[in-house]
Amino acid sequence: MKIKLGSSIAQKFPGVGYTLILVKNAENLRKISSLSQLLRGTAVVTKNELKKVDRKNLFSQVTEQMTAEGAVFLEGYLLANRVKKILAGKEVEGKNNLINLVGFLSLKYFLPIHGFDLDQAEKDYRLHLYQPKKGKKAPDLDFLPETRNFVLWFPNLGNWKDEEIDRFVLEIDQCLAKYFHTGITEVFHLDSGLPEVDLGYESELEKTYREQKKEEEREEEASLAENTLPENSILPVGGQLIESETQPSIAEKIKKWLTEILNSSFTEISVLESLEDLSEWLEIEVPNDPGHGDLSTNTALKLAKLLNQPPRPLAEKMVQELQKKAESEPGLMAKVEAVGPGFINFHFDLQYFQSRLSELLRQKEKYGRHNLGHGEKIMIEWGSLNIAKPFGAQHFMTTIIGNTLVNLYRVIGYQVLSADFPGDWGTQFGKSIYAYKHWGDKDQVEKDPVNELLKLYVKFHEEAEKDPALDQAARDEFRKMEEGDQDNFKLWQWIVEVSTRDLYSIYQTLGVKHDRSYPESKYNEACLRILEKGKQLGIVTPGEKGAYIVDLEAEHLPPALVQKGDGTTLYTTRDLASIEDRLTGDPDLKKLVYVVDVAQTLSFKQLFAIAKRFHQADPSFPTAEFKHVAFGRMSFGDKGMSTRKGNIIQGREIIKEAHDRAEKIVREKLLENGAKFSPVELKNLIHGLAIGAIKYAMICQSPESDLVFDWDKVISFEGNSAPYLQYSLARASSILRKADHPQPDPESHREESSPLKTSKQVSEDQITLFSLEQTQKYSQKAEDLAAAEAGQTPFSQPLEQALLRLLVQFPDKVAAAALTYKPNTLTSYLHELAQTFNSFYTAVPVIKSSRPELREARLELVKAAVQVLRSGLQILGIATFDRM
Ligand code: ARG
Repeated sequence: MKIKLGSSIAQKFPGVGYTLILVKNAENLRKISSLSQLLRGTAVVTKNELKKVDRKNLFSQVTEQMTAEGAVFLEGYLLANRVKKILAGKEVEGKNNLINLVGFLSLKYFLPIHGFDLDQAEKDYRLHLYQPKKGKKAPDLDFLPETRNFVLWFPNLGNWKDEEIDRFVLEIDQCLAKYFHTGITEVFHLDSGLPEVDLGYESELEKTYREQKKEEEREEEASLAENTLPENSILPVGGQLIESETQPSIAEKIKKWLTEILNSSFTEISVLESLEDLSEWLEIEVPNDPGHGDLSTNTALKLAKLLNQPPRPLAEKMVQELQKKAESEPGLMAKVEAVGPGFINFHFDLQYFQSRLSELLRQKEKYGRHNLGHGEKIMIEWGSLNIAKPFGAQHFMTTIIGNTLVNLYRVIGYQVLSADFPGDWGTQFGKSIYAYKHWGDKDQVEKDPVNELLKLYVKFHEEAEKDPALDQAARDEFRKMEEGDQDNFKLWQWIVEVSTRDLYSIYQTLGVKHDRSYPESKYNEACLRILEKGKQLGIVTPGEKGAYIVDLEAEHLPPALVQKGDGTTLYTTRDLASIEDRLTGDPDLKKLVYVVDVAQTLSFKQLFAIAKRFHQADPSFPTAEFKHVAFGRMSFGDKGMSTRKGNIIQGREIIKEAHDRAEKIVREKLLENGAKFSPVELKNLIHGLAIGAIKYAMICQSPESDLVFDWDKVISFEGNSAPYLQYSLARASSILRKADHPQPDPESHREESSPLKTSKQVSEDQITLFSLEQTQKYSQKAEDLAAAEAGQTPFSQPLEQALLRLLVQFPDKVAAAALTYKPNTLTSYLHELAQTFNSFYTAVPVIKSSRPELREARLELVKAAVQVLRSGLQILGIATFDRM
């Protein structure tokens, strides 16, 4: 057990010293009447003696000196309380002998003494100043009758000379021997020169605590190592990485073929040698139009340009060679052809797709996982709210894009730490503090922290309009806070605490969380240290009017201001300190990703450039790869929110509105059509649709483009929305249930119900679920169906093939979405998959198919679609439902 001198004490009272007394094996159990008599007697004497001037003086000297700006030494405060009690004629006797002993000593000498039971404490103890609060009882000695091992201490502000201290120690020792059958085990002295001591005693509790702590850390490390997703992001995978299950993609194979062909049959082409990386130069893409094959390459066109030759003959020559390669691997390629000016299209063999389908069904929820990251550790920062301001609508962007990237990178085999950089420091707190001191109400703020603080903030600005002196007053409050003024510091702490709790509760609703937090306030000192270092290294140079900058001309960037003329540091400087901190704390981090508003693009470019400079000049300054994932602005078009507070549309309001709208569509489209849910199911469904819809809206377009949030599109069972995917999945799942249990299905009621009314409002290019049900209702008669299916073989129908083709693309889409930082790659894919699935199910009989082998194959497709839609939604952190 260590006892440490708190920094606030050391700063306020640089000369303070503590005497610490360690006692072991005291016999505290015996009731000793003489000790309580001693205490009572001393109390009477003290009461009388306090009438004498010199005793009174000594007492006030001891206690009053121990106060600084509202904070007091707890020991002195306890002593003063004890004396107050005596003067008021109250009972002084404590609950046990040890308490009585301490009471006796403190009264006899006006000694501010305190201590605790070492066996009741679980961790190191920091001596601190105490902030008395009205109506709140100060912590008192909590010695128990069975306390045997304990520590006592008293501070000395220079009131006592060494001899006096020795006398106290001696008397304590004698009392211990007399009343507790033990003596002092050891005496320690603590002061700013030696701010902590190890008592050399470890209790059982401490040991357990320490082991538990270690265990937790181990678990945390292990869970990171296992690459599991955070609990509520619901990816139900055991966390195992799949080393080799994902085959090298066909695109890779084709690149290999092309490389070999270029090297053997086109050796005369010396230009190829000048290409640094052939595999980078070779472009393979998935054509949008399935008629153009499953993959396509423009290699012949590119080569033709280099050689200044017509491309088509080159393409044909390549195709000849490619066909030979393909023949050596039967079951892979159905056709390789040269088309148009010189494109080469590859059509895969049906057998290939089928083998991938079996693979998908075998891997189940693991399908789509990769080990591209090889367990490499990266950090993704998202959130980073400015504390004491509301969670605004645009904060969904960083939160959701950030978390989707976290999930995506975990799925492709990286260890991902998700990090937060809360804006908990800055001049705005001066304003909040000023406003709170003048107009604030504690209870109000605690009840509704963020809104109350916002009101105060707004009020401040209104008042400052009228009286410009307020701005200076707020700056003064902030300066006081920076200088460690106790009142302001405590107030700031409290503001941060209550607003963080309030703000961050939304993360719980969204099912997201951070692994690491790096609050800005942590970097006040580190900033200055780094600036000094930068100046020494010549990176940080004087700018105008006493300011400091980093000249970034070499990087083609404008100079970055890193310290203002008045010495205050800037955002970039804090970020720099945080980079150092993050990479020192987790030295194996390979990459830092920041999911932050596009407005900060320049500032991140500068930040990354500066960090690299520091590393170049001094390799002990850690480095990694840096990436800013920028996202655009979010607006509400003209269909605004119903409620507006100030100019800020708050996150909670959006969630509320989403719930209301989700409830409405559930009622209109599901309940009124006969769906039945238990109350709990209904609640989960509405919540899952509401939150899913918001999340999807944030990621279904390229992050950097501006987002127009349109409620009618976001919460809808149609179009590119989460509810559409969720509904498609539920319908597909219900098909599987029906296949398993043809008779009793909880949803059979809907088969008979009238088709949903919306089908005519639906755009033509989209086969909706509702028109789908309509079609099913009027499906063919059995004998017609048998005739139609007579010549069919499994997977021979174009819609079956289209679906198959898409299902196989899933792993590539996941990887692409992660590596390009574009979750919309995945959402577009899932949307297309859902559409294709729904078209397939509309046109192709599954359960009702006339032939078992066709039914079997189609059910496999349904199973696979369920699997992929479910995994896809789970990666996006969107709830899935088996039925709706
Ligand atoms: N708190 C900042 C803001 O709301 C965003 C912080 C972004 N992260 C960073 N490391 N600079 O504007």
